[in-house]
Amino acid sequence: MNASIKTANDLRALFLKFFESKGHAEIPSASVIPENDPTVLFTTAGMHPLVPYLMGEKHPMGKRLVDVQKCIRTGDIDDVGDPSHLTFFEMLGNWSLGDYFKAEMIPWSWEFLTSPEWLGLDPDKLAFTVFEGDENAPRDEEAANLWRAQGVKDDHLFYLPKKHNWWGPAGITGPCGPDSEMFIIKDQPPCGPDCSPACSCGRYLEIWNDVFMQYEKKADGSFVPLQQKNVDTGMGLERTFCVLMGVNTVYETEIFAGIIGKIEELSGKKYGESEEITRSIRIISDHMRTATFIIGDDRGVTPSNVDQGYVLRRLIRRAVRHGMKLGMPEGFTCAIAQVIIDQYKGNYPELERNGAHILEQLKLEEDRFQRTLKKGQAEFEKVTGNMERRKNAFAGLKADKTGEAAVAAALKVLPPSPENLPVIEKVKAGTISDAELDSMIAACAQIDGRSAFKLYDTYGFPIEITCEMAAEKGLTVDTDGFQERFKKHQETSHAGAEQRFKGGLADHSEQTAKLHTATHLLQAALRKVLGPEVAQKGSNITAERLRFDFSFGRKMTDEEKAEVERLVNSYIQAKAPIICEEMTVAEAKAQGAIGLFESKYGERVKVYTMGEFSKEICGGPHASNTGDLVSFKIKKEEASSAGVRRIKATIGE
Ligand code: ALA
Repeated sequence: MNASIKTANDLRALFLKFFESKGHAEIPSASVIPENDPTVLFTTAGMHPLVPYLMGEKHPMGKRLVDVQKCIRTGDIDDVGDPSHLTFFEMLGNWSLGDYFKAEMIPWSWEFLTSPEWLGLDPDKLAFTVFEGDENAPRDEEAANLWRAQGVKDDHLFYLPKKHNWWGPAGITGPCGPDSEMFIIKDQPPCGPDCSPACSCGRYLEIWNDVFMQYEKKADGSFVPLQQKNVDTGMGLERTFCVLMGVNTVYETEIFAGIIGKIEELSGKKYGESEEITRSIRIISDHMRTATFIIGDDRGVTPSNVDQGYVLRRLIRRAVRHGMKLGMPEGFTCAIAQVIIDQYKGNYPELERNGAHILEQLKLEEDRFQRTLKKGQAEFEKVTGNMERRKNAFAGLKADKTGEAAVAAALKVLPPSPENLPVIEKVKAGTISDAELDSMIAACAQIDGRSAFKLYDTYGFPIEITCEMAAEKGLTVDTDGFQERFKKHQETSHAGAEQRFKGGLADHSEQTAKLHTATHLLQAALRKVLGPEVAQKGSNITAERLRFDFSFGRKMTDEEKAEVERLVNSYIQAKAPIICEEMTVAEAKAQGAIGLFESKYGERVKVYTMGEFSKEICGGPHASNTGDLVSFKIKKEEASSAGVRRIKATIGE
């Protein structure tokens, strides 16, 4: 092991330096909120923002790129609290965009992992997997032989099926391909003769993934070769650092030391004091880190009941609930966020830039939730107390079906509703069967959908919090019943959230590009009508509409909205060709280009010009002519957060 690695930043720097020595240009992390990708809520891997370039578009920084991408994966959010799960992590990654391939990447991976100059890991403690082949792609003997050529023994090399050794966003169209994964072998014996990196016994811990992205998955499920062969690799910074430090959990590395120290200071509790306390401390640490990065993103999101805003709300509310369990003082979310901002602002300056906004939003959401939490908890206790009484009454009746007291107690918990009447008759007659009583008792272990929905709707309990609180009492929740009610009450915008998982990148790409173009035209028109101080604060595109957030202090008048709409339509009718040029940031600025996220695109950037009306630094893609949009309509103008307005608009109607 390379003993000079002491902090996560050391590992980060080493990775960047290694790939820079191999001719890679460093690009900054993209936003955690995907701009023009309606298929995901958050950036889950470094490849997301690079999809257009993996598909063949030219990247202004060249064909060899390296970066550290902020990633959010909330799929396993309920597992957070255990030693390993995180909803936010940094992914070290390098890319070949149609440049080098396996023959270079595998020896480099070996060098970075084992050379004393780099990670210096013991080759005997490493294992490797390659794709075993199927009807879509051949067995990856090439990768296996390249590993062997480095000195990897056959008992450290495993061929695995697509489930394990294929990468590409699951179920979604887009670039993908076989991969080769690298594992640390832990000091624990094999779980059996078939023990391999495919099993979950914990002996093998994945630290790096080399994806050989050479296919495009089409909407019909077929795989066609991409026009170029790419490499996409991903190494989780937290996990790899944890391995290098030889500790069992990421929470025991310096990455979490400051955050956990603050929680201990505020709560007076100690990490490790009890399992329950440790779990709560981990949940608060993880969720606060993720929430801080979501709000602090330049394309920041605020808590709400839809899409990313709802995930954010869940994260904050769950952290607040665990904070209350630990007896943390009100406002603790801000104190912890401040530690996170200070820790990360060097690598992610946006956190400092948006620091006041982060604290303001956390305080608002914590206050909102604290206010209702107490009332909600009382309601939750009432619901579960009733269930407990019913359960006891039915159990009592089962033991003594004709006993006067048992019958009276059972009747007391059976309101005389029409559906209860037949049961009530049987209870009175003493003829109710054990089986019937057993199923009535079993039903008392589950919170019904109506109560769960009331907790959500009236008390702001995300369903996951209700489930978690129920589990603490050994109860379950009728989540199907909840969903049924939830769907009925949801505004139509939620249909969009579901839609986003159905289609694929390729299916929507043309419409997405047009809506993206409409966003530029809208910004140009807003600046003309409301003044040049209008600046983009966020953008989100789904298959149906665009959403654009911008700085402006008040509601727009009807006249202003009509004028903006008229201007955008005039830009469309002008049928202006859309021109893309590459230049340096300085040149772009000199030409008067606007662009909020310019530094994200590194030194050389793309500038999109649309007639005389719009010039913006932007990664694209766009329509080729403004006329392609046909028409533009504002559907809604509303407040987004303090000083920020939001417009939703559609095209082509
Ligand atoms: N995109 C690949 C992953 O996330 C590297 O594992």
